[in-house]
Amino acid sequence: MQIILGITGGVAAYKSAELARLLANQGHRVRCILTEAGARFITPLTLTSLTGEPCYGANPDQGEWRANPSIEHIELARWADLVAVVPATANILGKAANGLASDLLSTVLLATRAPVLWAPAMNTGMWEHPAVQANLQRLRGFGHAVVEPGEGVLACGEEGSGKLAEVAAIAEAIQVHGTPKLGSLLGRKVLITAGPTREDLDPVRTLTNRSTGSMGIELARAFRDVGAKVHLVLGGDLPEPWGVETVRVRSAQQMLEACEARWMDSDGLVAVAAVADQRPESAATQKVKKTDGIETLALVRTPDILAALGADRRPGQWVIGFAAESENHLEHAGEKLKKKGLNAILVNDVQTGRGFGAQANTLTPLTAQGPQPSLGPLPKDLLARAVVQWWAGHLQSERS
Ligand code: CTP
Repeated sequence: MQIILGITGGVAAYKSAELARLLANQGHRVRCILTEAGARFITPLTLTSLTGEPCYGANPDQGEWRANPSIEHIELARWADLVAVVPATANILGKAANGLASDLLSTVLLATRAPVLWAPAMNTGMWEHPAVQANLQRLRGFGHAVVEPGEGVLACGEEGSGKLAEVAAIAEAIQVHGTPKLGSLLGRKVLITAGPTREDLDPVRTLTNRSTGSMGIELARAFRDVGAKVHLVLGGDLPEPWGVETVRVRSAQQMLEACEARWMDSDGLVAVAAVADQRPESAATQKVKKTDGIETLALVRTPDILAALGADRRPGQWVIGFAAESENHLEHAGEKLKKKGLNAILVNDVQTGRGFGAQANTLTPLTAQGPQPSLGPLPKDLLARAVVQWWAGHLQSERS
């Protein structure tokens, strides 16, 4: 994405340097525009060093805004795929809500057709003032996104709301707001299972596997970004993704119950979780002591979540599974596709060293029409987006 990052005058301006670096590291091109007050808190040199792109000042005689001052704001407005203002003061919110254009940032905001996102930061009294709230309401009405400030101790010494949202949350919101929505998934409710399950033997021992849940989390983000409403049922310890309703579970049985509670209200299921196929027959309430001669563990099967939900579906609901295979991939995956009545299965060749915990991965979708062109090798975030694009195209073609 090509992002214009507007930085206005507030102590939180130092955090926009961190945001600029994070976005640049994620592969975005970031050009910063400082307002006059913003330039008192942070320097153009910091921002150009972090982004490798020019930084613009408030007026034609500042920063890089020199080449052709009469049209620079139009060029920048066209260049942007998204304009984010972080931190946004009451002043810039007021200007943009009322169509005022008195410096480079406010003129770009008025001229651009790109999505706009605001991350306000200010004193609690200012934040709560009806004039500021009315301006925000107006901006929301223009289709702009607002990442609400949090609560905490503010630079002015007061405690209350008005503290800039977390940088990571702003970066996620930029990703969501800047991603074009896909008609076949917009507003659709997608249920995703992710991560390992844990089956307890006693209060200190557990049976689990090496899945981290990262692929499922990236898929949740990718569905969220294109406009789906995502419910994530998550095992393991990774943090929950922003903007995704997440339920944390431990065992296969808990995962099944959490899914069942949401399934009837969902349009589709993507089962990414590495669910333990067995659990100890009984879990001891006290730590089991070693006893000579008793060295075997009695196991029983856990519920197959994907099969259970697939068997209990209403017309129009779709179900996608994952298959990690080390040999005869397509043959084994094809059997699972049929046995579990899936619309598609994404086949992962674990023999090549890719899969659990690996950085880059390849997935081959398999449907009733046979194997589809492979997706990847790609890092998991990009692979997840490729899966979502492929599936949205598949749904679209089924409809037409
Ligand atoms: N799955 C599930 N519930 C289970 C087991 C698996 O929902 N109890 C889902 C996984 O999330 C994945 C797919 O089913 O989408 C994997 O299918 P499965 O046949 O269980 O794969 P394996 O356990 O790898 O099977 P096998 O050992 O027979 O290869």
